[in-house]
Amino acid sequence: MHSLSRLTLAAALLTLAGCESAEEVAQRERLAEGQTLYEQNCRVCHAAGINGAPIVGNAKMWGPRAQQGVDVLVQHAIEGYGLMPAKGGKTHLSDAQIRLVVEFYLAQLPNE
Ligand code: HEC
Repeated sequence: MHSLSRLTLAAALLTLAGCESAEEVAQRERLAEGQTLYEQNCRVCHAAGINGAPIVGNAKMWGPRAQQGVDVLVQHAIEGYGLMPAKGGKTHLSDAQIRLVVEFYLAQLPNE
């Protein structure tokens, strides 16, 4: 009896460790989709910093921009901002897709 309950506990712990909540799975899928869209549409400028485009994962370049909050960043990306054309010139992208990329950008920054 004693060893059986131990076994049950071990199994429960394993399940917990291996299982993501539905919310975590959904969040991971959003980020993966954002990354794919980034690679297809935004990478050409945002990987190398063309025209001063903030480089993905570069906390220094993103710092003051990120502080504007996700909604402002999404709006700037949709409408165009400074040297960045509206939607990076990829006008076939929906506003929701632009948001996925911006969420991906923000997730690449180190937590403060
Ligand atoms: C043609 C090059 C180019 C492409 C393609 C491009 N960007 Fe940009 N992006 C820029 C430049 C340049 C800036 C900096 C603009 C400035 O501050 O003058 C920028 C800035 C941004 C910012 C910061 C705005 C702010 O408020 O500081 C976001 C967010 C952004 N881009 C999102 C995207 C997304 C999402 C895509 C893909 C759909 C994308 N960009 C594609 C050039 C590009």
